Amino acid sequence: MSTTGIRLLAPAPGWAHEADVVVVGSGVAGLTVALRCAAQGAKVTVVTKAHLDDGSTRWAQGGIAAALGEGDTPAQHLDDTLVAGAGLCDEEAVRVLVTEGPDAVRRLMATGAHFDTSETTGEILLTREGGHHRRRIAHAGGDATGAEISRALIEAVREAGVPRAEGQGGVPHAEGQGGVPHAEGQGRIELIENALVLDLLTDAAGNTAGVTLHVMGEGQRDGVGSVRARAVVLATGGMGQVFSATTNPSVSTGDGVALALRAGAEVSDLEFVQFHPTVLFLGADAEGQQPLVSEAVRGEGAHLVDADGVRFMQGQHELAELAPRDIVAKGITRRMQETGAEHMYLDGRHFGAEMWSKRFPTILAACRAHGIDPVTEPIPVAPAAHYASGGVRTDLRGRTTVPGLYACGEVACTGVHGANRLASNSLLEGLVFAERIAADIAAHPAAPGAPVIPAPSRFPLLPSEARYGIQRIMTRGAGVLRSAASLEEAAEALHRMYADAAELLERDGKTAEPCVETWEASNLCLVARVLVEAARRREETRGCHWREDRPERDDATWRRHIVATLDPPASHGLRPGGAVPAAPATLTIRTTDTADFAPGPLPGGPHPTRPGTEQQR
Ligand code: SIN
Repeated sequence: MSTTGIRLLAPAPGWAHEADVVVVGSGVAGLTVALRCAAQGAKVTVVTKAHLDDGSTRWAQGGIAAALGEGDTPAQHLDDTLVAGAGLCDEEAVRVLVTEGPDAVRRLMATGAHFDTSETTGEILLTREGGHHRRRIAHAGGDATGAEISRALIEAVREAGVPRAEGQGGVPHAEGQGGVPHAEGQGRIELIENALVLDLLTDAAGNTAGVTLHVMGEGQRDGVGSVRARAVVLATGGMGQVFSATTNPSVSTGDGVALALRAGAEVSDLEFVQFHPTVLFLGADAEGQQPLVSEAVRGEGAHLVDADGVRFMQGQHELAELAPRDIVAKGITRRMQETGAEHMYLDGRHFGAEMWSKRFPTILAACRAHGIDPVTEPIPVAPAAHYASGGVRTDLRGRTTVPGLYACGEVACTGVHGANRLASNSLLEGLVFAERIAADIAAHPAAPGAPVIPAPSRFPLLPSEARYGIQRIMTRGAGVLRSAASLEEAAEALHRMYADAAELLERDGKTAEPCVETWEASNLCLVARVLVEAARRREETRGCHWREDRPERDDATWRRHIVATLDPPASHGLRPGGAVPAAPATLTIRTTDTADFAPGPLPGGPHPTRPGTEQQR
């Protein structure tokens, strides 16, 4: 049973599987945890929502930041990260990132990832991106860094002897239930693709005992089932789909954060959504995943200009187009407001055809596919949702506030990013903290008791079409530019959506049919509501949280983190006679703020908190 008693409505699990560790997600964070845990002898099950290579990692263009270049040091990388984070980074977490980062990248290379190197010296080529004072970003395939990292990790996972768990739709079955043999002392990795993880299973003492999940397809393990495990690692990526236009793939629906909230975990800094400044503009109504135009294009010398060719970032920041991402996104948005334009332009015509095709083949192809040729014309660009700087709150070992539940990568809030992630720090964070999580799991081998059988859920599901309503509400009310009024409107609209569904369930006993689309819509609605509550509470402008009604940064009051949890509803026992109690018309989102990042010894630990506010919504 999840610790809040709040769960997604789903059929009872019809099949069960056992592992030591369940890793949810198959990007750089998830696969690195899986490989390290298997190397330590654990039996690992990787659950991924689509195919192994369908997560966010493969879309990463620019690269991976680490102090690898001559003259660069972790201390300089730390300084740039702290400045970008606008006073809210956890300095200890950043120190871990920048000092352990270079070796983690070298281990990634030893795993098989090939970065671009100089034809003459053979050394790794490093580029610049926003907020970095020096060339520090390793890249691969020009602008296909994530794809190369993903390829290398998937290959390593397959070499580790990966059987696919039986009965997944659309993928070949493993030979037999046990999978392929594995080397002595080496664990093994099983794979469940096309599977949406629903909720955490816990034992009677509240320890993580596994997950429930739904496998899409036919076979022995189709439909809802459970995987029992002593550790669950959320590596589910981001929540970009909460907005209409995003660089994130369609699978990025905030599933990990929503699961963690229902499980009673703390989430932090959710108001800090990073809007990437230069996303290919495909029209004001464009929805879903939009093509990214990497910051590395600016790093190599492309300029941002308005329709009259004016370089409007000059004079706004010493780094002009290469200022931290939030500053460039604001600069573009302001210029759009001043000129009434729907987008600005990125001009890289001076690169010439050869550089475009060698250095930025992915971006060149994406632009040309949409009828724009960057060799001969400036690229129309506008900001779009890109990265969740906040997420499930963890300590330096990736532990959340629920025993046995870990979070890694974009879904996590380790304290590294503060109010605004420094460009290309995310792949590095996934790598470094994945290794720490694997070490912590190996150091704590205790097994949980049997999972508590959950009572039937009494919480409504939202209809699948709610996804688009949520995206429009969030884009209008909690996008690049926010205010108390816009956030209030968004909060009301999201609350109405949930309350209507709860009323329908209470009055007519009806709710949307449990399926992937309705689970995703319900997850999106939950994370959107928590995000909006955090954004309402943060009454200042800081990093990527931009309040037009509170334009100044306020260190005296707000050098603090907003931590949110879901409160259990007042009663969640069964009604006499075994009937399921009424659907609660409200969900209680509690937000508190804390000066310190560290969640302390887990679970709990002393947090210097100010009194919480409860939002009965
Ligand atoms: C980019 O290439 O601009 C994106 C890299 C990142 O998000 O760190």
